[in-house]
Amino acid sequence: MFLSLDGIDGVGKSTQLQLLVKKLQHQGHEVVTCREPGSTPLGEAIRELLLNDWNTPMNIVSEMLLYMTSRAQLVQEVIRPALAEGKIVIADRYLLASVVYQGYGGGVDTEAIWNVGRVATGDLLPDRTIVLDLPLNEAANRLGKPDRIEARGDDYREALRAGFTAEAERHPEQIELIDARGTEEDVATRIWNVVEQIMESGTS
Ligand code: TYD
Repeated sequence: MFLSLDGIDGVGKSTQLQLLVKKLQHQGHEVVTCREPGSTPLGEAIRELLLNDWNTPMNIVSEMLLYMTSRAQLVQEVIRPALAEGKIVIADRYLLASVVYQGYGGGVDTEAIWNVGRVATGDLLPDRTIVLDLPLNEAANRLGKPDRIEARGDDYREALRAGFTAEAERHPEQIELIDARGTEEDVATRIWNVVEQIMESGTS
């Protein structure tokens, strides 16, 4: 089974990912996690380029392609081998993040991004992408020091949230929007219900 978790910055994605991993491991599953950009030597080098503010000019298409490069390496080095060994893979962000951040946020054509993504991943999409959804002001409260992408302001973040919602509506069988309000346990339960349903449906 291959899952990815996504959502605007500050929705509690990393916390929920850890809770989910623990629960799956507790049930005896072998779980591999990865984060984007990163999780391979090339990917971590690209992460530095993308998220540190070195004032290097970088246009939005270059940015999108760097995320894709990191992803192509990740699929080949980490995700495919883990799936082949029967492990569960949980990705902290995946292709949908590029569609939303560089597409809805940055203005690159979203269909074009899906298509580049098909090349980058060799058509490997998650069984389900879980998107945590939270009103902007609540997400902002959970944020620490902003990185280069996070520093882009409220209009950008509003466009991102709308983008996640729009893509979830367009691909209901692929993307599951989950209300991230409430306690950590509340949200973890909502996520678990979805994961159980995927496991029962046998897509793993
Ligand atoms: P994030 O998961 O927020 O990492 P961390 O929790 O360590 O800050 O991801 C880093 C940033 O990269 C985040 O602001 C979203 C952005 N991003 C894109 O713009 N496009 C992408 O394709 C991906 C994967 C991430």
